[in-house]
Amino acid sequence: MISVVKINGSPTRPSKTEILINAIGASLAAKVDVNEQAITLADVGHSVMCGLTRPEVSAKGEQLLQLAERADVLIVGTPVYRASYTGLLKHFFDLVDRDAMRGRRVILCATGGSPLHGLMLEHQLRPLMGFFAMQTVQTGIYGLSDDFQDGRVVGSSLLARIDQAASEVVDLLPASRARIAEVVS
Ligand SMILES: Cc1cc2nc3c(=O)[nH]c(=O)nc-3n(C[C@H](O)[C@H](O)[C@H](O)COP(=O)(O)O)c2cc1C
Repeated sequence: MISVVKINGSPTRPSKTEILINAIGASLAAKVDVNEQAITLADVGHSVMCGLTRPEVSAKGEQLLQLAERADVLIVGTPVYRASYTGLLKHFFDLVDRDAMRGRRVILCATGGSPLHGLMLEHQLRPLMGFFAMQTVQTGIYGLSDDFQDGRVVGSSLLARIDQAASEVVDLLPASRARIAEVVS
């Protein structure tokens, strides 16, 4: 059983990023046994944003930061805001303990209104994970409005990338856990 923590940096709901993150979580759950938890910053962001430094965050905020710091796998998603990840997501990661994140595996995803901003994921979100020495999977996942319909991901190339990224993160798991994936598939 691997612990998966999904972090959505969108400040609003409903959220296309949340649909994407959930689709990635479902794809991973189809490959390996998971215990999944979500940090939906639209709902719980205030418990983190209330503090400019870690000692200032609420007890609930501290709990969320520790949840992220203990995950085997993270699925980190954000809408593109002003050509970057959201300030909300950045503030969360500004408070996360640097050393606690070393080596944790992460799938990155983003949604945006323009295809021109898809590389935000490669040039901004991935380097942020690099700062923490986290292991990002090769395949980044970027969704546009047309990829979503009735609360689901419908874009076929996006669905293929989701499956690819989920397989890549399974490959990063220790052999004993990856074996579970082989039995399931
Ligand atoms: C304040 C704001 C800034 C945005 N900036 C960009 C941007 O720079 N580039 C882009 O492609 N989309 C931009 N968008 C569009 C969102 O990234 C897009 O609608 C996204 O899918 C929303 O995700 P969500 O539904 O998970 O909140 C912006 C939207 C808002 C509200």
